Amino acid sequence: MSVQREQWGSRIGFVLAAAGGAIGLGNIWKFPYVAGQNGGAAFILIYLAASLLIAFPILIGEIFIGRKGQRNPVGSFRIVGQNRSIWTSFGYLGVLTGFIILSYYNVVAGWSLGYIIEALRGVFSGFEDPLMAGFHYELLMANPKWIIGWQAIFAAISVTVVYAGVQNGIEKYSKILMPLFLMILLFLVVWGIILDSEGKGLAFLFKPDWSVVKGKTILEALGQAFFSLSLGMGAMLTYGSYLKSDDNILSSALMVAILDVLIAILAGIAIFTAVFAMGLSPDSGPGLVFKVLPAVFAKLPGGTLFGVLFFLLLTIAAVTSAISLLEVISSYFVDEKNYTRHKVVVIVGIITFFLGIPSALSFGYWKNVTFFGLNFFGMLDYVSANIMLPLGGLAIAILLGWQLKKNDVITELRKGAENIVDASPWSLLSSKVYLSQRFNNGLIWHWIIRYVAPVVILLVFLYSLGLI
Ligand code: PHE
Repeated sequence: MSVQREQWGSRIGFVLAAAGGAIGLGNIWKFPYVAGQNGGAAFILIYLAASLLIAFPILIGEIFIGRKGQRNPVGSFRIVGQNRSIWTSFGYLGVLTGFIILSYYNVVAGWSLGYIIEALRGVFSGFEDPLMAGFHYELLMANPKWIIGWQAIFAAISVTVVYAGVQNGIEKYSKILMPLFLMILLFLVVWGIILDSEGKGLAFLFKPDWSVVKGKTILEALGQAFFSLSLGMGAMLTYGSYLKSDDNILSSALMVAILDVLIAILAGIAIFTAVFAMGLSPDSGPGLVFKVLPAVFAKLPGGTLFGVLFFLLLTIAAVTSAISLLEVISSYFVDEKNYTRHKVVVIVGIITFFLGIPSALSFGYWKNVTFFGLNFFGMLDYVSANIMLPLGGLAIAILLGWQLKKNDVITELRKGAENIVDASPWSLLSSKVYLSQRFNNGLIWHWIIRYVAPVVILLVFLYSLGLI
């Protein structure tokens, strides 16, 4: 058998890694543009409800399966699912989803990396009109060398980090960089609110117009909740598998979920206040953040510095997420196929890079190749986030809610829930919270996992297909 499995250095190490995995392009790049395309506030409220009612309980369930299985998604689903092939197959679905998401994730993360250089070159300060930021984006998108080049460099960076080991690299830097990121974001939020003197951006974000809600809106809000929390494909499961069997799941999950949602909302405020103040359109799709923020930086004193810092930190946030995707796939090959970690990481890195090329071309050469009205990139993103991830979540809910005995599940969940360890600044949120004491008996959670989550996910699927 293989060498003894790695474990997290500390509990806070797990929380930071999981939060780092959750917080990424999904919060800053995807959330604003999907919210923008779906009419704003109503979408956001549905996303919040989906995060609280469905995604958070499933997050607990997913970490649970990893902690219990102590393996990659395939192995953990096999063990927790008592060897039934139906459950194991959801492990495989997770690994496949990992390949797909990582392939296009590298592309957008590459844009962010490339934007650091654009900012450094002082390009942003030359934008006299906010629309120029949009033209510049289109120009870059029409340049496959630029996109694929940065995509390759980003992929190489995440491979290097995972190759070198997660504990000493990302765990260490996350502690310093994530708070810095939060500070810049808060600054942009305040700046945005000042810019948005008529309050149009805030109204778009917080005043729901329910008439824009369609089946697709609800499906995308659910998909966004899953994508943003890295749920349903085994990323949280894999991180959970490096926990000890009595590490507290509930309080860690709560921290991760709160941080993730909070950062999405802050990004939403920073971006939509700016969108309206600059007279741009909220529904301009995947390029939204890359068009809006440079226009803001152009007008900001010290904008070049802010631009560089912002895209640098966004890239780092993307690295901590990309490595969690890479980790899922790698842990599968290491645990199940006995390959060495180093070899796997490099090979998977190369494969996902090539898989990402069609996505990279989707904005230029292959702009006109569409599937159901979406380009190749959009199609992969749509199917993986809105269908494959919720499907994985559905499997977790049914496995824990219906296949396993309630008492066993609850007893397992409570392991470690009585432990209050942690003296970090985060402990305010993470430990002695009343919520976790009440919640700790696990009964509400089990009820949600058994009834609410599966029913809602199924209804959303049917509704978005127009079947109900
Ligand atoms: N949650 C990550 C983000 O918001 C993306 C991700 C999805 C990572 C699924 C892992 C698994 O950027």
